[in-house]
Formats: sequence, C-alpha cells, structure tokens
Amino acid sequence: MADQIEAKPEKWLARGTQMIKRNSMHLLDLMEQIMDLTKLEAGALKLSSVRGDALEHLQEVIQPFRELAEQKQIQFEFSPPKDNEILMDYDPDKLAKILSSVLSNSIKFNKPQGKVQLSLEKGPWSLDTPPPPHLSEGQLLIMTIKDTGIGIPEKQLPFIFDLFYQVDGSSTRSGEGTGIGLTLVKGLLVLMKGTINVSSEVGKGTIFKVNLPLFQDSTLAM
Ligand SMILES: Nc1ncnc2c1ncn2[C@@H]1O[C@H](COP(=O)(O)OP(=O)(O)O)[C@@H](O)[C@H]1O
Ligand SMILES: [Mg+2]
Repeated sequence: MADQIEAKPEKWLARGTQMIKRNSMHLLDLMEQIMDLTKLEAGALKLSSVRGDALEHLQEVIQPFRELAEQKQIQFEFSPPKDNEILMDYDPDKLAKILSSVLSNSIKFNKPQGKVQLSLEKGPWSLDTPPPPHLSEGQLLIMTIKDTGIGIPEKQLPFIFDLFYQVDGSSTRSGEGTGIGLTLVKGLLVLMKGTINVSSEVGKGTIFKVNLPLFQDSTLAM
C-alpha cells in the first residue's frame, strides 16, 4: 500500500493511509499478544494492580465494542452489578485484555441481528479452590458474556483455550484471528487466581463465564 501511495498519491493517499494505520494497529496488537504470551511462559509477566472501582474501567473497555457491535448490527446489552460498583485491587491493563478478548470473539463469531449480553455480578466464593485471604465481602466478580453466535461444536470445546487453536471451517476463518486470544486469557487468569468456563451450542450461541477473586488490600504478586 505504501508503494501504491507513492506511485499514485492522488488515488491512494486517503484510503491507503487508513489501511496502513488499521493494519499497523493489528500488527501492534499481535506483537503485544506474542510478547505477553512469551512473558507468561517465562513467568515474567507480573500484575501491576491498583485499588479502585473496576466498573468505571470496564465501562471504558466496553465502549469500543458497543460501537463495533452496532456496525455489525449486533445488539449489545450490558448489565452492571446491582450496587453499581466493583471495588477491588486489579491490574487495569490485564483485566481489559481478558474482557476485550472474550467480547471481541462474541462479536466476531456472531451474525447480523445477533445479540451479545455482558453481565457483571458479585457473588460468594464458588470455585473449587479454597478462597484466598483478603477478599472483599462480595468475594467473586462474575463476568458473563453470552452471545447468539455460531456456537462451538462439543468436540472442539475442550481445545479452544489451546494455543493457535481455531475451530475449523470457513465460517470461523472468515474472521481475523490467530488463536492466541483465549490462551492468553487463561494465562492471565492464572496470574489473577481466576477461572474461565465455557458452554456452547452450535447455531445457538456461546456463554463464557469469568470468575475473578475480589481482592482487597492484597499483595497479588505472591
Ligand atoms: N464466542 C465464540 N463463538 C464461537 N466460537 C468461538 C467463540 N469464542 C471463541 N471461539 C472459537 O475459539 C477459537 C479460539 O479463540 P481465540 O483464541 O480468541 O482465537 P481467535 O479469535 O484468534 O480465532 C476461535 O477461533 C473460535 O473458533
Ligand atoms: Mg479471539
């Protein structure tokens, strides 16, 4: 594209620079994902937590996905926790990456007139492991991302968190991606002592459930 702009700026300058920008952003995104993955594997990825209302932060993370959904004629519904706040210690950047990755999938593997529902709730500890110390009263943040997209065949479901795994077929391949997203999500959740579960039905849709301990005053980097 850069060559084309050079050769015929009057024809390509506007459209071409836009394309270059968009593709550069994708490339940067991919680089970051690969970097995160490499750091995770080396045990060099650390949490850098702040204390505050994660709801405000999450609402900012969601905004571009509202717009993306609208462009694709997908209905986006968001329901915040009843008391409208999520006080916790959290790593803003990594929390954003988790939600973004799952949300982008729920839009990417959806269809026009489809729906994405994101709900945030606080609830009591329900994980298999005993609760770690320094939890807030709510104990768990439960993020549920439900879509009415193409769904995932039962046989493939156990593999979607594997590195580079993508469910086969041209329908999924028509979307961009590399199969890194969910591997990274899972890795980040290990750092945060959280979990992710999925259930799906082909043709009906998919539900991801992310559970995160509501740490308060904790030293997460244990
Ligand atoms: N909400 C969803 N609906 C249908 N399939 C999904 C959904 N989320 C993930 N998948 C499947 O899991 C695969 C792995 O997801 P991910 O690691 O994010 O890779 P990518 O998005 O780069 O393809 C996807 O390629 C897709 O086949
Ligand atoms: Mg993805």
